[in-house]
Amino acid sequence: MKIAMIGTGYVGLVSGVCFSDFGHEVICVDKDPAKLAKLNAGDVPIYEPGLDDLMAKNVAAGRLTFSGNLAEAVAGADAVFIAVGTPTRRGDGHADLTYVMAAATEIAQALTDYAVVVTKSTVPVGTNARVAETIRAANPDVDFDVASNPEFLREGAAIDDFMRPDRIVVGVESDRAAEVMQAIYRPLYLRDFPVMTTDLESAEMIKYAANAFLATKITFINEIANLCERTGADVKMVSKGMGMDGRIGNKFLHAGPGYGGSCFPKDTSALARIGQEYGVPMQLTETVIKVNEETKRRMVDKVFDLCGGSVNGKTVAVLGVTFKPNTDDMRDAPSLTIVPALVGKGAKVRVVDPQGAREGEALLPGVTWVEDVYEAAKGADAVVILTEWNEFRALDLGRVAADMATPVMADLRNIYNPDDARAAGFTAYVSIGRKDYGLAE
Ligand code: UDX
Repeated sequence: MKIAMIGTGYVGLVSGVCFSDFGHEVICVDKDPAKLAKLNAGDVPIYEPGLDDLMAKNVAAGRLTFSGNLAEAVAGADAVFIAVGTPTRRGDGHADLTYVMAAATEIAQALTDYAVVVTKSTVPVGTNARVAETIRAANPDVDFDVASNPEFLREGAAIDDFMRPDRIVVGVESDRAAEVMQAIYRPLYLRDFPVMTTDLESAEMIKYAANAFLATKITFINEIANLCERTGADVKMVSKGMGMDGRIGNKFLHAGPGYGGSCFPKDTSALARIGQEYGVPMQLTETVIKVNEETKRRMVDKVFDLCGGSVNGKTVAVLGVTFKPNTDDMRDAPSLTIVPALVGKGAKVRVVDPQGAREGEALLPGVTWVEDVYEAAKGADAVVILTEWNEFRALDLGRVAADMATPVMADLRNIYNPDDARAAGFTAYVSIGRKDYGLAE
């Protein structure tokens, strides 16, 4: 199969690299010359474990190339994937489809023979039909079908998620398009990963519904955690006990500082807007968005409480600023709410993050970036764990505490236990949904 992948963002690049690894001939197209230069030099513009090796392997095999010429990539392709961004539109929360529609018009003008135009970007219900109309209007003679093929990969585990998916969802309106999609995914299909074929609208809705459901699950446990703190229950136990019920499941039930990232905030907001548009308010999702914002702000209060009510003039070491580990992505990270709030109240913030500096330097003004956790904690008045990078999971807590001016910790990912913190010499410790100790009454 010959595939053109339009857009080399997270989803586009990972999908393009993985499709080439299936043996397909893939041309990844991007408009950004700086990005193309990087890709052509073998540099991966994002941090994603394993992606650089897989990309190098398939470039060397001659199956994977990068180009700025959309027309050349599209001519003769069996499938053209649209994987451009669908950011939240400023002002109204809708998904901004400017890039999707611009890509559709360009593709229409470049198509030569029959091809399936596949939307991989997360798009509101009805967008694939609009893509089809746009292509027909731009080039009435062209022979094509559209397909919706939402992507469910998680950052940091993208290759594994792509290669070992729970399911592949394909929305189509013709047998011919279904056959092309089957051929593209044959390596996974043969290994018994289920391919679910459905109509366009259901495929589009599955992606939003799945992400909103997961965001709801996380927000639910975050709210329970808040109540656990008041009642003396331990959210880790509660989550474990709930998760053992097969109907609930134990995944995405870890309480934390609120969800972030490139998908959940954007997709919940878009779903809420779609609901309003159709006169069917997505009340649960709207509440989830609100509770998640409150959760992030509650984290700021936790740090203030830990510091005796004020952070003014205090040195706070923040461990982790990316929205989750194994990524350099800062989009909608809880740190973007929490760190500026600390800086705004006069704290001197030192930040350690294995990958966060690249994007974080511009997004978090007024902080000092430090390479080493022990260095950051030296003389500090508080340590705050914001992202559960592996590097932070096995610290010598005794050494951290001994070097601090005031050995207190806010563990906002529950990676340590209150008992371990106490034994290591921390005089106060707060976490999520568990008993704190050492706070002033
Ligand atoms: C998510 C979906 O998982 C994926 O299917 C979709 O394609 C894109 O959005 P991603 O944003 O990469 O993937 O990260 P994910 O691992 O899902 O985490 C999202 C956010 O939820 C992070 O901020 C994470 O810290 C938080 N989270 C996740 C929790 O707070 N608790 C959990 O139990 C799980």
